[in-house]
Amino acid sequence: MQSITECALQGTTVLLRVDFNVPMENGVILDDRRIASALPTLTYLHEHGAKTIIVTHFGRPKGTQDPALSTRPIAVRTSELLHLPVLWTADIVGPEAQSLRSVLHDGQFAMLENVRFDAREEANDSAFAKELAALADVYCNDAFGAAHRAHASTAGVAAYLPSCAGFLLAQEIRVLTSLMTTPEHPFIALLGGAKVSSKIGVLESLLHRVDAMWVGGAMACTFLKAQGYGVGTSLV
Ligand code: 3PG
Repeated sequence: MQSITECALQGTTVLLRVDFNVPMENGVILDDRRIASALPTLTYLHEHGAKTIIVTHFGRPKGTQDPALSTRPIAVRTSELLHLPVLWTADIVGPEAQSLRSVLHDGQFAMLENVRFDAREEANDSAFAKELAALADVYCNDAFGAAHRAHASTAGVAAYLPSCAGFLLAQEIRVLTSLMTTPEHPFIALLGGAKVSSKIGVLESLLHRVDAMWVGGAMACTFLKAQGYGVGTSLV
């Protein structure tokens, strides 16, 4: 896995895939930790003179243009956290996005509209991946929370551009690799979140490695219900 530190970045355009799928209510971001976690990569790209095109998904619009799931407020929050301007484009691979390479100066940022507004993203459509790749010279994946999805912006695009891992992705892999191969004991896993369906594989893989596993968050309701407890209207 090539690190971002091995790439020549000055003057290049970088397509940076992040996971800024943040909790939001009425356009207000309730928790910006996912954005904050990518700041080391964003700052590095800025300091090394890259023109950075930020791409993220937000929610599950399933190929429809849902204004409530626009990335615009996320671009604003990213700019606030970075203390640098972040341009925002209303399209993903259209003319506005295509012009970014010439509009941006070295070290500047832009964010595309929600990549899942295009149904070809989740289909990992190769033509769409090529269009994304054509926006930049280098692809950097720092979207650890979305890296398990084989979508155009997380997987497909890597076939068409020199690719590297951002600092967050590299750090998560480093920590998880040592936990999976040489953990200290007692080894206790604490897992939370809402969507148990996509985590079952992780739970099963961890079960024979850990001394104990604690399940919390909304995900716990699924287990409580399976054990016969009432969970009211909680997510199951
Ligand atoms: C998440 O919030 O778990 C990630 O952003 C992935 O989102 P997804 O489950 O909609 O692919």
